[in-house]
Amino acid sequence: MAAPSDCPIVTIDGPSGSGKGTISRALAEQVGWHLLDSGALYRLVAFAGAGAGLAADDIVGHARLAAAMDVRFGADRQGRERVLLEGQEVGHEIRSETAGQGASRVAAWPEVRAVLLTRQRAFASPPGLVADGRDMGTVVFPQARLKIFLTATPDERARRRHKQLKDKGSDVSLAALSREIAERDRRDETRQVAPLKAASDACVIDSTDLGVGAVVRRVFELGAARGLWP
Ligand code: C5P
Repeated sequence: MAAPSDCPIVTIDGPSGSGKGTISRALAEQVGWHLLDSGALYRLVAFAGAGAGLAADDIVGHARLAAAMDVRFGADRQGRERVLLEGQEVGHEIRSETAGQGASRVAAWPEVRAVLLTRQRAFASPPGLVADGRDMGTVVFPQARLKIFLTATPDERARRRHKQLKDKGSDVSLAALSREIAERDRRDETRQVAPLKAASDACVIDSTDLGVGAVVRRVFELGAARGLWP
């Protein structure tokens, strides 16, 4: 098996609701590569911490959980995502905006980020990895062969997240969601360690007026131009 540093990697970073998850999943499927949804790991740490009764400011306890938690990603027969924490399906619970806020709080702690850094790098294996997050191109996989920074206007991102949550059966107001996303982005952009920002060598794609297919095509073409796939 190739060493992780030899494994081709595409990173897709960006703020909440920019479409990173959807694009990363579609691209990974198209090219037959592995997928890392790094946001899910931060969501799981916060979720597991609450479940274990940890105080919201217990940094050491959350870092221990981040190291010890048993996590499996997969899909059911209909292709819907499955996230198993200690063998229990938690995919629905960790996708709420409340879970996103919890994730963003634990994500500001260097101790938790250090533990997850190792776990995230372990996802790199042949034939390749599509990694989705906030610091994939800047910190976790600086050697990535293609780095994308995906953006969209705040209104469009809130609208997308709103639709996504509604489709999953959550009843949340667009106005409240807009505020929560703005708060989460501010926290992610201003934290001391691994803040949300485009890598200096990232290709920035504004997806405000682009459909999923068009963005995936653009990323696919950028990868093809770098010889990542035929
Ligand atoms: O991408 P998602 O919305 O699931 O991420 C949830 C939170 O996890 C983000 O708001 C961010 O605080 C944190 N995160 C991070 N670094 C990553 C991925 C997610 O700090 N690579």
